[in-house]
Amino acid sequence: MAEIIGGLGTSHVPSICVALDKGIDQTPQWKPFFDGYDYPKQWMKEHKPDIAVVIFNDHGNAMFLDRVPTFTVGVADTYKPSDEGWGPRAIPDFAGAEDLGWHFADKLVERHFDPMIAREITVDHGCQVPMELFFGRPEDAWPVKILPIWVNTVQFPIPTPQRCWDMGRVLREAIESFPGDERVVILGTGGLSHQLQGARAGFLNEQADRDWLATFASDPDKWRSMSREDYVEKFGSEGAELIMWLVMRAAMQQEVTVKHTHYHLPASMTGAGCIVLENA
Ligand code: DHB
Ligand code: FE
Repeated sequence: MAEIIGGLGTSHVPSICVALDKGIDQTPQWKPFFDGYDYPKQWMKEHKPDIAVVIFNDHGNAMFLDRVPTFTVGVADTYKPSDEGWGPRAIPDFAGAEDLGWHFADKLVERHFDPMIAREITVDHGCQVPMELFFGRPEDAWPVKILPIWVNTVQFPIPTPQRCWDMGRVLREAIESFPGDERVVILGTGGLSHQLQGARAGFLNEQADRDWLATFASDPDKWRSMSREDYVEKFGSEGAELIMWLVMRAAMQQEVTVKHTHYHLPASMTGAGCIVLENA
């Protein structure tokens, strides 16, 4: 059976792509942020996963406000990076873990979830940034296949934190019942605190971000029992992306070991954090 070898969480701010594309990641402004990813990159090299499940939200690039699925599961054999308006980026396409995608979609429906199933779709910075932060930029092919899972965190009603948690439990069940010996990492993405719009545009909450990173592993019940409105209040309207980390956390065991955390404020307009978890 396939095996979950780790759960990683990270912000997915799009200017991280820009910093990498322009080669300014070692400037005094960016270096402290990128330094936090040396450990996760090394961890990936040592643990050699075959598949990365990437949980993220689309930001109006592959889907728009005319059709807003709450959850989407990718079952494609290839995903092209979305062109977000600046032309194609110099990164390879992503190979899809098609069979695991179908297996997960089927398991979700069996457990009374109703996802959209995507056979042809692009992946935006929500997926591109975590992949590059954790795996570096490959010459010609990414070292893992991906299973992308999109969560609507853009247009209310977004799913509840508890619902994201429940989906993570099904994800674990799907991976552990998948016939194969693939080593799977789960990447929860988004956050930490940020608000890009409205009266509170520019809102950051360092204290809440640090609390998140300090207790996400040991006390996930606290975070999954909060309401969506609590997330918006504490982390900002876009900071509510953090509910996607709960999918990853629920797929991990109750007892986990925190191998690494990092925090940097701000990356663009966001409190930027990452975490690396292993099952204890
Ligand atoms: C920013 C952060 C995000 O998570 C995002 O999707 C877009 C922009 C930002 O801080 O600029
Ligand atoms: Fe985002």
